[in-house]
Amino acid sequence: MNILAIESSCDETAVAVYQGDIHTGQGSLIAETIASQIDTHARFGGVVPEIASREHLRVLPMLVDDVMVNASLAWGDIDAVAVTSGPGLMGALLVGSSYARGLALANNIPVLPIHHMEGHLLAPGLDGELPAFPFIALLVSGGHTMLIRVNGIGSYKVIGQTLDDAAGECFDKSARVLGLPYPGGPEIAKLAVNGDRKRFKLPRPMLQKDNLNFSFSGLKTAVMYAVRDLDVLDDVSRQDMAAGVEAAVGEVLVKKSLKACEQEDISRLLIAGGVAANMYLRELLNVEAGKRGISVSLPSPSYCTDNAAMIAYAAFQRLCAKASFESVKDVNPRWSLSGLSL
Ligand code: KG4
Ligand code: ZN
Repeated sequence: MNILAIESSCDETAVAVYQGDIHTGQGSLIAETIASQIDTHARFGGVVPEIASREHLRVLPMLVDDVMVNASLAWGDIDAVAVTSGPGLMGALLVGSSYARGLALANNIPVLPIHHMEGHLLAPGLDGELPAFPFIALLVSGGHTMLIRVNGIGSYKVIGQTLDDAAGECFDKSARVLGLPYPGGPEIAKLAVNGDRKRFKLPRPMLQKDNLNFSFSGLKTAVMYAVRDLDVLDDVSRQDMAAGVEAAVGEVLVKKSLKACEQEDISRLLIAGGVAANMYLRELLNVEAGKRGISVSLPSPSYCTDNAAMIAYAAFQRLCAKASFESVKDVNPRWSLSGLSL
């Protein structure tokens, strides 16, 4: 079967087609495209929801046409349209969902509403194997930081989450303090390569707490004060601060993830979401998990950030698991992952 997927929950418009066999569970991505709005939003220092919706509306029809041509498929070959239906920006989600519903109606095929974070969570299966169930997943994006016990497709128990800012948000806000453009994560990562991770003593929030929750707003505030206390924010200080932020966020994420594995007595860990593209985090995790005999699954960096391939793949996995798609009738900007079922 062929699943065409649309992702438009934030500032990337993406379309992909996944071809798979639900009897064997095997498949592959046959076409995908993505139009980033980063340049449009960069001058505002973050995503402007109204502009995001208008951009999605402008580019989506062209992207769908491109993907259909690249996949060499006609509409009669498409069996379902999957679309991100939450969480995300209301207007942005509505554009994708309405377009998907229009395509489905015109071509007499079903719509499969997909949870954006379930897409992130299953993304490592796109070009690798998903770990055996149960496993622990750390989902780290611009809007979410969650530790999840994954018992099966559609069975997600949130065992830890951020009490305030998400890890990606902490990167973005710290970058802003350092005068770097949006999105801040990749900018911090670039600068951090030559920085001294120990020069600035930044906090490791919630590490001493006996739970699996996170809090990153204090870290961003610490960065703000440390920058304020400098005589000049020169290039070396900027590099050292970037390296310090990366080290602090990385240490907290890795230690809490390993603690989750220990608490749940599970030795399989998966990390996904935009922040999982961070090379320092990936390396630290591989080293520390390796010492404890914990296997790590990561999507390739391009499938960590928002894309439609992961939405198509999540729809395919749900179909293979004979899941229901009825939970969301249209869009839900605050759709909870733990509310999903099969
Ligand atoms: O998953 P994603 O593309 O969008 C959301 O669903 O939020 O994640 C975007 C977040 C942004 O905060 C961005 O700064 C962060 O992921 N990010 C990174 C890197 N690439 C993207 N953070 C750290 N290092 C990176 N290489
Ligand atoms: Zn995302």
